Amino acid sequence: MKNLENKNILIGVTGGIAAYKVVEVASRLKKLGANVKVVMTKSATEFVSPRTFQEITKNAVYVEMFGDAANFNVAHISLADFADLVLVAPATANFLAKSAHGIADDLLTTTILAATAPKIFVPSMNTNMLENPATQDNIKILKQRGIKILEPADGELACGIVGKGRLPEPENICAEIVKFFSTEKILSGKKILVTAGGTLEPIDPVRYIGNRSSGKMGFEIAKAAENFGAEVILIAANTHLELPKNLKFVKVESAVEMREKVLSEFVSVDAVIMSAAVADYRVKNVSSQKIKKSEENLTLELVKNPDILKELGKLKTKQILVGFAAETENLFEYAEKKLAEKNLNFIVANNVSVEGAGFGVDTNIASIISRGGEVENFPLMSKAELAEKIIFKLIEILQGEKS
Ligand code: PMT
Repeated sequence: MKNLENKNILIGVTGGIAAYKVVEVASRLKKLGANVKVVMTKSATEFVSPRTFQEITKNAVYVEMFGDAANFNVAHISLADFADLVLVAPATANFLAKSAHGIADDLLTTTILAATAPKIFVPSMNTNMLENPATQDNIKILKQRGIKILEPADGELACGIVGKGRLPEPENICAEIVKFFSTEKILSGKKILVTAGGTLEPIDPVRYIGNRSSGKMGFEIAKAAENFGAEVILIAANTHLELPKNLKFVKVESAVEMREKVLSEFVSVDAVIMSAAVADYRVKNVSSQKIKKSEENLTLELVKNPDILKELGKLKTKQILVGFAAETENLFEYAEKKLAEKNLNFIVANNVSVEGAGFGVDTNIASIISRGGEVENFPLMSKAELAEKIIFKLIEILQGEKS
């Protein structure tokens, strides 16, 4: 089946030894029906001749910014407009650095700046260059801007050392591209409610009981859902993050307020993903004035907050419900209990006492537990990557592949 028929793919090739493998990527994409154009940096032409890509793609190959006087189109703009997807492989450390900082000093980097199409970069380089904090920071910046970065593979590198930095095999790169086009905007027409952040429970006008949630996990989920075409409502408590574009944002403070806003949207949504850390208790008698320091001890009486997700579990009709379990012990036992008690479709269990997981950080380590008992364990990954896994799981359910 020609899954990529009518798709315009622009491949950027930069100067790495793995450039030769990208000839096969171009060839496979052509066979899948894509119209492929290639832009090479000058360094890339040291590894593969432009003529090779020209023969494979049956299109002109672009290298020079100002080379072709006979061509009246501004090359970087027409190439940027052409692309439904931009793939850069191999993406060298130099290219990643330039792209992360908006430098446009050749045809490829200029085209990248001008292109609004989704982008996939495939880094490939020596392990030390890859692990250098400068490269890692650049990768982080690019990921935060929504560019998909494919993980380099492990193995023997051209420099002789064994480590991470190899270009993934061409078939794996092409599989990502096919997946991208098959899931692109797959959630259009669906409305998804995401909660994020940690509720604040007031004690008096200046004090509150809170928790360590930054909202990062929920914001990434909202962005991923929006990327797949969903209409997203993000209800967030106590977050200070840059607001994602193209979604409805509702700011709340306490659990009671979050419950009210969630319930007011619930009937119209197709799915709810509750990643917010909702306080289980609130202060019974909130003081209207600042509590003055007097006695040696101060006792606050707490009362139970409503369990929003449990309530949704009782009310749900068509809605898919996704919960999180933030645990510090007995992760699976407690998560499975919440999955059943709250009548969820699946739960994302994270042990928040493990380094790199849980509150505040950009990464997480989680497992998705489904109703049927199926468990998917994920290693340490960025919250953006985990968000995508969660959305893929949701898509499976919405498409009726899983219950
Ligand atoms: O925001 P970050 O800094 O990125 O951190 C991410 C996170 C650690 C907050 C996130 O990954 C996470 O685990 N969120 C759920 C936190 C939580 O409250 O877990 P819980 O196990 O106490 O609650 C279980 C589920 O019930 C959650 O989906 C929660 O949103 C929901 N709940 C809990 C209590 C309550 N009163 N009402 C609820 O709806």
